[in-house]
Amino acid sequence: MAVKACLFDLDGVIVDTAKYHYLAWKRLANELGFDFTEQDNERLKGVSRVRSLEILLEIGGLSLDEATKEQLAAKKNVWYVESISTMDEREILPGVKSFFAAIRAAGIKTALGSASKNAMMILKNVGMVQSFDAIVDGNHTSQAKPDPEVFLLGAKALGLNPEDCVVFEDAESGIEAATRAGMRSVGMGSSEHLGQATIVISAMTEMSLERLIALGESN
Ligand code: BG6
Ligand code: MG
Repeated sequence: MAVKACLFDLDGVIVDTAKYHYLAWKRLANELGFDFTEQDNERLKGVSRVRSLEILLEIGGLSLDEATKEQLAAKKNVWYVESISTMDEREILPGVKSFFAAIRAAGIKTALGSASKNAMMILKNVGMVQSFDAIVDGNHTSQAKPDPEVFLLGAKALGLNPEDCVVFEDAESGIEAATRAGMRSVGMGSSEHLGQATIVISAMTEMSLERLIALGESN
């Protein structure tokens, strides 16, 4: 099956904002009186803001009412937005720009499939809004990854079938979402977390148009 589109997660795939999310959640955890490690943070990758907070509180052994949870999620977001407000194109991850140039020149469509409600701000700051034929983010979805909704909406916006699309993801929940959407996937990171992906790479610099085409031709 020829690949007709690539659907990209944002945080940890296009830009390294995963670190800013982590630092803001860690700050909140510390304020609440417990520690939050990078290992714990793996569970939050790809997951919505509300669900991330629930996991964080579970790690800290805290149970809070809805109003407090809303306040805490808003507080974390203020810190996070502060970090991303000064981002510029230097924060685009290595290999992303050249891979986009290669696939777009070959007529392959691109879509964003992110859980973040801050996606547009980040894309604007790094100058990548025009790099996508469709943008689906946390403002358009009702189900968080590992639900396949975000990627199915991406394929639909491009007018393509799931089997035409390849998903790029750094989160375990995102790879599961891709699989459930009936799409092939490229896991970005370690096979320890991303073993379910069709292939795993450590950075976009390892990707090429040829490798993408080969992925479409594999079983
Ligand atoms: C995902 C991140 O892309 O977006 C998660 O991997 C994050 O860590 C989620 O919680 C929601 O982001 P935001 O910007 O709407 O809080
Ligand atoms: Mg991600």
